[in-house]
Amino acid sequence: MRIFILNPSLFLLSCLFFSLCYRPTIAAKKSYVVYLGAHSHGPELSAVDLHRVTESHYEFLGSFLHGNDNPEDAIFYSYTRHINGFAAKLDDAVAAEIAKHPKVVSVFLNQGRKLHTTHSWEFLGLERNGRVESNSIWKKARYGEDTIIGNLDTGVWPESKSFSDEGLGPIPSKWKGICENDKDAKFLCNRKLIGARYFNKGYAAAVGPLNSSFDTPRDKDGHGTHTLSTAGGNFVAKASVFGLGKGTAKGGSPKARVAAYKVCWPPVTGNECYDADILAAFDMAIHDGVDVLSVSLGGGPSKFFNDSTAIGSFHAVKHGMVVICSAGNSGPTDSTVSNIAPWQITVGASTMDRDFPSYVVVSNNKRYKGQSLSSKGLPRNKLFPLISAADAKAANASTEVALLCEAGTLDPKKVKGKILVCLRGDNARIDKGQQALLAGAVGMVLANALENGNELLADPHLLPASHVNYTDGADLFRYVNSTKRPVGYLTRATTELGLKPAPIMAAFSSKGPSSIAPEILKPDITAPGVTIIAAYTEAVGPTNEDYDRRRIPFNALSGTSMSCPHVSGIVGLLKTLHPEWSPAAIKSAIMTTASIQDNNKGQILNASSYKATPFSYGAGHIQPNLAMDPGLVYDLTENDYLNFLCALGYNKTQIALFSDKTYRCPEYVSTANFNYPSITVPKLSGSIIVSRTVRNVGSPGTYIARVRNPKGISVSVEPRSLKFLRVGEEKNFKVTIKFRKVRAATKDYVFGDLVWADDKQHQVRSPIVVNPA
Ligand SMILES: *[C@@H]1O[C@H](CO)[C@@H](O)[C@H](O)[C@H]1NC(C)=O
Ligand SMILES: *[C@@H]1O[C@H](CO)[C@@H](O)[C@H](O)[C@H]1NC(C)=O
Ligand SMILES: *[C@@H]1O[C@H](CO)[C@@H](O)[C@H](O)[C@H]1NC(C)=O
Ligand SMILES: *[C@@H]1O[C@H](CO)[C@@H](O)[C@H](O)[C@H]1NC(C)=O
Ligand SMILES: *[C@@H]1O[C@H](CO)[C@@H](O)[C@H](O)[C@H]1NC(C)=O
Ligand SMILES: *[C@@H]1O[C@H](CO)[C@@H](O)[C@H](O)[C@H]1NC(C)=O
Ligand SMILES: *[C@@H]1O[C@H](CO)[C@@H](O)[C@H](O)[C@H]1NC(C)=O
Repeated sequence: MRIFILNPSLFLLSCLFFSLCYRPTIAAKKSYVVYLGAHSHGPELSAVDLHRVTESHYEFLGSFLHGNDNPEDAIFYSYTRHINGFAAKLDDAVAAEIAKHPKVVSVFLNQGRKLHTTHSWEFLGLERNGRVESNSIWKKARYGEDTIIGNLDTGVWPESKSFSDEGLGPIPSKWKGICENDKDAKFLCNRKLIGARYFNKGYAAAVGPLNSSFDTPRDKDGHGTHTLSTAGGNFVAKASVFGLGKGTAKGGSPKARVAAYKVCWPPVTGNECYDADILAAFDMAIHDGVDVLSVSLGGGPSKFFNDSTAIGSFHAVKHGMVVICSAGNSGPTDSTVSNIAPWQITVGASTMDRDFPSYVVVSNNKRYKGQSLSSKGLPRNKLFPLISAADAKAANASTEVALLCEAGTLDPKKVKGKILVCLRGDNARIDKGQQALLAGAVGMVLANALENGNELLADPHLLPASHVNYTDGADLFRYVNSTKRPVGYLTRATTELGLKPAPIMAAFSSKGPSSIAPEILKPDITAPGVTIIAAYTEAVGPTNEDYDRRRIPFNALSGTSMSCPHVSGIVGLLKTLHPEWSPAAIKSAIMTTASIQDNNKGQILNASSYKATPFSYGAGHIQPNLAMDPGLVYDLTENDYLNFLCALGYNKTQIALFSDKTYRCPEYVSTANFNYPSITVPKLSGSIIVSRTVRNVGSPGTYIARVRNPKGISVSVEPRSLKFLRVGEEKNFKVTIKFRKVRAATKDYVFGDLVWADDKQHQVRSPIVVNPA
């Protein structure tokens, strides 16, 4: 699995289709996960029970092994608590044999996945000018008091002030987790950071034996500390990145308790989080009593039963845990979204109304507004020569690679003392700055390529630098190319608030439709994920490069990895406020109250200033204060999920294994009636009737249906009004979706929505997504 940060380091982005990147180190045997579904044992387990399960795994595997192989050596994880299965080193032929056994749901390779202040909460309306008003969800939900938020990530930096336990009472009694520090005595938990564990056997199976430095949940990367503090970190005053973005760092549920499950390790094959470890961590998090799990990692799109995150989160949701996942950073190409299971909350990333401008000013008096978090600025009132990286190429390099400022492609004689203009793409943005610095540049301008549009990211560059958009970059290149002695300067970055329009979808945010299950809309929601300031590790510098000697307690990162924990923090608040709501009800509340408008009252735009669609933002941009009181919810149970899998044509025998009871697919099931808070018709032929059930979680009242038709489509709702006399009451309705004339001319997806509105300002909105093909 990959972590979904848009990391300044190259390797995190280099290996999207992990199946192509997977290089087992042991030729003959590979590590596999054998998934056997659910356990039938109850929750109260003795050590003897657990041992018995492991014995049964040995026995099962033993029946397939021949010759000298013994199952005790082959199995490196036995999943004993909630998830039933094991991870083992196996020959391909043995794995194929096992997959045929009727008790086996799936057998899949233990593959590597990637990892895909704080002003964002003000942008989301939880506070105004640092004041928390009475209608804020923070106040009403007691800042997420005593909800337990966990993450699967690179671990945690326990010394961060974001995890100080000042003012917190005793640890909630239901907590069963531990602080796994027996091999790292300096790693301490407290009443805020109530648990930490690490899982590295799947990683070791792929990369080879590990030394003792891996026996700790300590975060030596920064990603996990950043995501966990975004979801549940304390208020920490006077946080900033090199003086920029100054303010109080905050987590979404600042009074929640947090726990870290370290499953991601330094990448060796381009990936850092392995399936076998992810599954072990899910099994433990369920056991420990985590309420909300934030998962900012994933692979490419993958079938449900071959995906450790989908399997793990299925079991977690079954136990009432809410699982929030990042959508991935493979946008803006269509059908790139990952973590697409209907029981997950899948989060895209967008901007907020803050940026860090650093202007590029050139001698013809043009000013280009770029972005930067450089710790350094150029001297004032001085002009420097500018040079295009293409003109600065070393004798042995091609123009193409030099323009990208790749390592070893620049000629220091040409670069020295100048501002170097580099093109975005291929190597990491931060690395381009490092190459410029090594070649003797005094500054760097990073110019977007066409596909990056207007997406600008403020990075903690090592030299004065500014990142400009595509049109400005092309203009600047023209100036540099056509001027005899191009000169200019960069202004020091500042912090600017109140930017319009915002949010804008990030170009990197992965998009729908889902390539695995286009029957449901994914992502579900968008939240801030561009230049997010949160706590960081102090084991490495903000660029994560060896050459970076700087150490900072807070850092700015971008990615769906950063938007995901925003939603996790808000889910923490909703859990405190409505402990009885199911994971699906919480998701419904978040989705149906989201907004598709920006702060200019226009429709949310994409990074090239076109209107974005639900394939980028799902139901829209999250509005936490409204999510507290959605009026109505679309709920789902475990059986609904199983029926959905039946409807997708999953093997019935296997679904029965997945579900720990004698479950049978109904005779007739349709994905159209799956009670999701969005409505998707992946292939409209003539007309279709979609049914839904809503439950009243607000005051009694009458809701009226209002629809916005997708282009060329007519949508009608029956009945058109729903009257609720009490809380908890449920009502059904049907939506008929058909072509308005004979057949729509367009073959592209079209979008509309259905809103149930009462007279008390509840607006329960569902996107409607129709493929007329
Ligand atoms: C699941 O993974 C196994 C082994 O990696 C592979 O043989 C199988 O085709 C995959 N199944 C699906 C449905 O993707
Ligand atoms: C452990 O292994 C890592 C990675 O191979 C290496 O960088 C580190 O120096 C080793 N540490 C010890 C204590 O041997
Ligand atoms: C690029 O940035 C400049 C600010 O320097 C802005 O005026 C311009 O509109 C942006 N380009 C596009 C296509 O939006
Ligand atoms: C060019 O030569 C330099 C110095 O020998 C070397 O460091 C660099 O890697 C070479 N670059 C390429 C693109 O081959
Ligand atoms: C500027 O010159 C470089 C080569 O020096 C070329 O690659 C690039 O296309 C030119 N850009 C413009 C906008 O003319
Ligand atoms: C924005 O949307 C337009 C129109 O759909 C599309 O052509 C463009 O590629 C999108 N750009 C980005 C960065 O998402
Ligand atoms: C489901 O899969 C199992 C194991 O692969 C197979 O034995 C069984 O026949 C399949 N059942 C159906 C209904 O296709």
